[in-house]
Amino acid sequence: MDEHLSVGPAPSFYGQTLEQHLLQMQRRQTGATGDFTGLFHQIALAAKIIASQVSKAGLANILGLTGDVNVQGEEVQKLDIFANNTLVRCVQQGGHVCVMGSEEVEEPIPIPPQYPKGKYVLQFDPLDGSGNIDINASIGTIFSIHRRKTPGNGPGTIVDCLQPGRDIVAAGYVIYGSSNMFVYSAGQGVHGFTFDPAIGEFFLSHENLRIPKRGDTYSINEGNYHKWDEPVRAWVDWVKRDEGDHKAYKLRYIGAMVADFHRTLLRGGIFVYPPDRKNASGKLRLLYEASPLAFVCEQAGGSATDGTTAICDVIPTELHQRTPLYIGSPDDVADALRFVGPRA
Ligand code: AHG
Ligand code: MN
Ligand code: MN
Repeated sequence: MDEHLSVGPAPSFYGQTLEQHLLQMQRRQTGATGDFTGLFHQIALAAKIIASQVSKAGLANILGLTGDVNVQGEEVQKLDIFANNTLVRCVQQGGHVCVMGSEEVEEPIPIPPQYPKGKYVLQFDPLDGSGNIDINASIGTIFSIHRRKTPGNGPGTIVDCLQPGRDIVAAGYVIYGSSNMFVYSAGQGVHGFTFDPAIGEFFLSHENLRIPKRGDTYSINEGNYHKWDEPVRAWVDWVKRDEGDHKAYKLRYIGAMVADFHRTLLRGGIFVYPPDRKNASGKLRLLYEASPLAFVCEQAGGSATDGTTAICDVIPTELHQRTPLYIGSPDDVADALRFVGPRA
């Protein structure tokens, strides 16, 4: 045989794609049907479409897309609505989910009658940190997947949506930043994939991510200082002061939780959105923001609490319920709890 025609192994310098990684995980699970891998495939497709649109956001003025109506006379969607609709459209036809939930939509999102209903529930914040779009700073998509609770294979209901982080099957986020990354956990560690725009694929770049036990950075909107309760103020006063072995922490705050969390996951430290006088339960949404990232954080060896209870143990009672959040390196969260926790 002509040696030039022989097909060798695929070049390995790029490593595993997200899809190859999921298939490998699927093969390890007895009884896996491929449903889960199929659902992920659709989420990843939506992420690529959103990423492509996000990268063009700065061109909006030049392309005349800032008004409500574009040159074709079509109404132009805001990017967070575009992201929402992209996820819904990519996922609803796959037959893997029975209902969806989104930060952008008041009620559970049904699957149209013409599509089969599956055994999973997908919930998401389609675009987190959307205030950052205009300033070219990082934004992201956060998602979680649960098994349906209602029996049968009919449409899912709100009961399927109101599930705690502890019952998450998989969760993750996509960050649209200086590079685009897909980070997820399906209960077997946390894995990060970086998007190569030339190939159009996410490649495994961060296998089995572990959050440092302690960091040196705190992340909070300190502009709210005078609206916080005394324990939160006392913790912030302490964290930025040299005291004995404790060295003053650095402050970093991007204003997009997904980006602040991503840094916290890689470098360690703590991200906090506490209750304040304006927002008695904080600002972040349990189902679409706190719970998925708490699941990822725990899987990476970190912790996440609302000040009293581990976020993953909080049973949601409302779709758009808000929660205080202390998330990050276990030692840093424990330090914060010394100030704000139940026996503080
Ligand atoms: P969203 O863009 O999905 O509404 O979320 C914004 C959230 C979160 O990403 C971020 O951590 C927080 O709002 C920032 O709030 P402040 O501007 O109050 O600090
Ligand atoms: Mn958000
Ligand atoms: Mn959002």
